[in-house]
Amino acid sequence: TRTQDEEDLPHANKKTMADHLRKYDSLFTLTPQRMRMIVEAFRDTLETGLQKKGQIVPMIPTFVFGWPTGEEKGDFLAVDLGGTNLRVCLVTLQGEGKFELTQSKYRLTEEQKQEEGQKLFDFCAECLGNFVKSNIVSAGGKIEEGKNIPLGFTFSYPCSQERIDHGELIRWTKGFGAPNTEGHDVAAMFREALVKYEVPVTLEALINDTTGTLIASHYVNPSTKIAVIFGTGCNAAYMEKLPAIEKLGNLGEGSADEMAINCEWGAFDSFEHEHLPRTKYDIIVDETSNKPGEQSFEKLISGRYLGEILRLVICELIDEGVLFLGQNTYKIEIPYVFDTAFLSLMESDPTDELLMIIGIFTHFFALETTLAERQFFKALAKLVGRRAARLSACGIAAIVNKMGYLEEGCSVGADGSLYNKYPGFADRVHEGLVDIFGVKGKNIVTHHAEDGSGVGSAIIAAMTKNRKDAGIF
Ligand code: GLC
Repeated sequence: TRTQDEEDLPHANKKTMADHLRKYDSLFTLTPQRMRMIVEAFRDTLETGLQKKGQIVPMIPTFVFGWPTGEEKGDFLAVDLGGTNLRVCLVTLQGEGKFELTQSKYRLTEEQKQEEGQKLFDFCAECLGNFVKSNIVSAGGKIEEGKNIPLGFTFSYPCSQERIDHGELIRWTKGFGAPNTEGHDVAAMFREALVKYEVPVTLEALINDTTGTLIASHYVNPSTKIAVIFGTGCNAAYMEKLPAIEKLGNLGEGSADEMAINCEWGAFDSFEHEHLPRTKYDIIVDETSNKPGEQSFEKLISGRYLGEILRLVICELIDEGVLFLGQNTYKIEIPYVFDTAFLSLMESDPTDELLMIIGIFTHFFALETTLAERQFFKALAKLVGRRAARLSACGIAAIVNKMGYLEEGCSVGADGSLYNKYPGFADRVHEGLVDIFGVKGKNIVTHHAEDGSGVGSAIIAAMTKNRKDAGIF
């Protein structure tokens, strides 16, 4: 008997969808041995980044000295400029690891990501100004004359810092390209906007989302040692002993024993492409991006790219005359139309007929699918999603190795849309850790972190203020 997909194929091409899948399976599958090699190289890169300035994985000293006590208290504002949204939050820290949060969210347009940098910060200040008016002033909250509200600014791009309230943007990531911002102090640019819009706040701290997540996670769960973000971008932060940060020289001396490091690990293997298993689809994603060569690790993992990787495989099979024969495929041929959220939906489709996948393809791309095609898409999503999770495990393992956390175990605070919404992502990261470390890999556990970009920002602003009040800088 002929299978359904054989009937759908032209005579010359007798390959079944299962045959095609086998090819992609070998392209996207990472063996434990390969993973261990990646971990080794990754660990070396992290160490070099701590020793020398200007490395591609910059291992940025954040000037966040040590852990919070959990007793930080007060009202703080946080502005979070992420990859997809701008968020403004009012956080009330209540001590004992407790807090309350009110927030507003604004979606960023693609144009805003590319227009003049100062305009972007003006927009942030304007939104913050409106938020303060409607949530504090109109709500009857008092802002004492001459007493600004302390603000934490979560700016989730690589910035090199000399102090906590300063940061020069090294490079844009996640598709941003606003001119006149790289190489500039973004804290100063934001301050200029805050003055322009007369917002009664003082920018206390400029932080990365990973650093915020590290601190916020620890505030409520003191066993946290590492934080990771799996969202539009992918990155990690952890707490390092000061003497290990060789490149810092005596800059941090006398301040504390430890400082948080924002790894910016998304840049691992950039330009050289020596260590990571890139397929031709990954190479296309890279070369057609606004930053070819850069963020190599991130491009294999983060939510901004996974949908596009899968779309490129589909397009290849359309070109080869395997998929959607006789149908007009122009809608799916547009770059980045295939959202990573579709991958999670496809993977979690519980029906035998894969009705959700039918829906995605008819509704968004005006395409009819056969059951065999839908099974193929589901399996393909699994391959791409699983590879991302296993590579993420390699990054975590590199930090664990470097810090010697395997025996005692550690808790990893994790956040971001992939981690929170992609079914099975966390389980696959855990499986990956066991593949790398054997059964001891079970000592490393990820958990959903508290909102690091909002709450973490507020806690760091509080820690900074406390240090200042105590006369420590
Ligand atoms: C990108 C940014 C990094 C951020 C991550 C997650 O990798 O460069 O700063 O932490 O995305 O948002």
